[in-house]
Amino acid sequence: MIKTFDVIIVGAGGAGLRAAVEIPKEYTCAVISKVYPPRSHTGTAQGGVCAAMANMEEDSWENHAYDTVKGSDYLGDQDSIEIMCRDAIRAIIELEHMGMPFSRNKEGLIAQRYFGGHTKPEDKNNPNGKRVSVKRACYSADRTGHVMLQTLFENSIKNQVTFFSEYFVTELLMENGVCKGVIAMEIATSEVHIFQAKAVLFATGGYGRVFRITSNAHVGTGDGMALAYKAGLPLEDMEFFQFHPTGLWKLGILVSEAARGEGGILKNKDGERFMIRYAPSVMDLAPRDMVSRAIITEIREGRGIRGSDGTDYVLLDLSHLGKKVIDEKLPEITGFARTYLGVEPTTEPIPIQPTAHYAMGGIPTNANCEVLMNEKGDTVKGLYAAGECACVSVHGANRLGTNSLLDLVVFGRRGGKAIGEFLKTASFQEVRHNEDERSREMIHNLLNRSGSEKIVNIRTELQNSMMEDCGVFRTKESLERMIIKLGELNERFKNISLQDKSKVFNTELTEAMELDNLLKTAEATVYGAYNRTESRGAHTREDFPLRNDQEWMKHTFAFEKNGSGPELKYKPVVVTRFQPMERKY
Ligand code: FUM
Repeated sequence: MIKTFDVIIVGAGGAGLRAAVEIPKEYTCAVISKVYPPRSHTGTAQGGVCAAMANMEEDSWENHAYDTVKGSDYLGDQDSIEIMCRDAIRAIIELEHMGMPFSRNKEGLIAQRYFGGHTKPEDKNNPNGKRVSVKRACYSADRTGHVMLQTLFENSIKNQVTFFSEYFVTELLMENGVCKGVIAMEIATSEVHIFQAKAVLFATGGYGRVFRITSNAHVGTGDGMALAYKAGLPLEDMEFFQFHPTGLWKLGILVSEAARGEGGILKNKDGERFMIRYAPSVMDLAPRDMVSRAIITEIREGRGIRGSDGTDYVLLDLSHLGKKVIDEKLPEITGFARTYLGVEPTTEPIPIQPTAHYAMGGIPTNANCEVLMNEKGDTVKGLYAAGECACVSVHGANRLGTNSLLDLVVFGRRGGKAIGEFLKTASFQEVRHNEDERSREMIHNLLNRSGSEKIVNIRTELQNSMMEDCGVFRTKESLERMIIKLGELNERFKNISLQDKSKVFNTELTEAMELDNLLKTAEATVYGAYNRTESRGAHTREDFPLRNDQEWMKHTFAFEKNGSGPELKYKPVVVTRFQPMERKY
């Protein structure tokens, strides 16, 4: 039987739920999620959500927009960035009114803290002079994403949204440039369902699980991006993948930048505060691309610390902050350090290493979250995307910390609003009763194959190779190796067999589909990186160390071409008020 809703939202993280809250009550709205909604990855966001509230010191949305553009290494589209930074203050007050429990300052206002790359002019009468860090990140201790997700979940229940939890979307239904629904598998039974909708919004998050060391939850397998790509839609700027400088050594679990915002210091094996050599004005609060490169450089030049397993790390020292600050403001991450590494952060430094954290690229959209079908800006009728899976390009080549939670509430709401408008005149497209045949066949084939390859081996090789050859530093040679590796892994994927043949909660089956999605997102990432012969933001080509605005002030659009690597097209960056400059901190 076909399930019919006016709106289907795929993904129950912050962007999906914020959109769900916005859908007018007269329309039926369903959220499909492969996990129970409060387990979505937004819940792991820690340090804050930024807005120029000026609760602690003077600030303005223009400062925020300037920092975001500069942080993006001038690849962010400035029209979208202006929308986000202007709307940020309203978005935070709205969250407060929805019941989100923010930490407070002495006056009872929402507290704000420092975060990397967020600055203001030291002298407001000299806006082009020296810039200093500014407290712009609103927070709830170091559990900001967790409380935001709970708040949005409660509010979407209040808005009478229907939830299909633990359903895995297998196909996006489109015909003649119009979206008409999705196909999804119920994980508990492996039963396949057709969902018909007038509008579909993808809010499926990122694909950090394509790397070995990542802060991403297990769900971060790029499902929405891969579904769009397989349906013939482009993926934008996938070569820009952010490594967060401070993941717990070996595990990659996030140690919030809030730790440095509160005064934590990075040190090498000699106890030196090495960031002074890389970003003398803001030091440990430089943007993430710079800090991650600095850490790897320290390690490569022999100033890291060798762990018992032969891998290297540097240190994040919080011990001088005192127990009171640590317990009040950083309880979660210091708990992780104790639990997973047996380190006591009030007296000992925490071993850390860069961890794959965030996809700047994704499904291209305009500022109303309508999905673009090409680099010319044509849209797919009825299809929307928001949050990490989308690329409206507010983050460009490098996202500033705390702009991700902001992105998902601002653009989640805009997506919901745009759908509300669209529904006033939209109608259902015809969906055939056998529309689920392709998915049924794909699942049947996966369950009945008798090949010799195991999913875990292919996934582990993919993650290791991506880490080595398409990580913080890249070269032509490393990317060529990665292209060959992808060809080999794709061939081997055809020869997998599952050990679990059952239809009840078959997690091996979902892992197989997730691996297929990871291979697709990796393809767009690697080819985009290979072609982009410059270094910009998180994309560092050691063989092309400089940014090249002459040739590369443009977004990559990768289209799947069935096996021979994607076709790459390009779209110019939108520049409004901030002309590209050398990026120094
Ligand atoms: O460091 C952090 O707390 C992460 C924040 C973010 O990615 O925006």
